[in-house]
Amino acid sequence: MAGNIELERTLAIIKPDALQDADEIRRIIKASGFSIIAQRQIHLATEQAGDFYAEHYGKMFFTNLMSFMSGGPIIAIVLGKKNAIEDWRKLMGPTNPMDARERFPDSIRALFGKDQTQNSVHGSDSVASAAREIRFFFPQMILEPIPTGQTTER
Ligand code: TYD
Ligand code: MG
Repeated sequence: MAGNIELERTLAIIKPDALQDADEIRRIIKASGFSIIAQRQIHLATEQAGDFYAEHYGKMFFTNLMSFMSGGPIIAIVLGKKNAIEDWRKLMGPTNPMDARERFPDSIRALFGKDQTQNSVHGSDSVASAAREIRFFFPQMILEPIPTGQTTER
């Protein structure tokens, strides 16, 4: 392992409102130094969307969020990079696109988000949630850290 920089992995989602912007979003992702380790387009059932966002169960926006996330196809992407979790959160920008446009005009949510719910992209917020969320969409994936240069299964 000496001399290898470990890749961290995180789970990104291009949400239903931004599917038509997927190519441009992936171009920005790659230009920002992330590699796309795996990706998958999927149309979630309402119940699956609820499972994915279980931490928000009971909140005022939960039902709305479930129906939005199951309202059309999404693209789930495993991103790899050193410090991927934090760096992807930064590149996404704040939850509310209005806020993003004011404070981080180059962020993806500033560029592609519509409102507080339809905010174009998702990103894991911790090592534990990245592991859970990658497993949610890619249950077959091996979750050990992988050295750079090594390829992974799809
Ligand atoms: P949250 O985890 O707080 O934001 P983030 O996606 O930045 O981690 O919320 C999850 C999603 O729920 C968020 O991306 C959009 C939706 N949401 C609403 O619809 N209304 C709200 O008031 C909040 C806070 C979130
Ligand atoms: Mg969150």
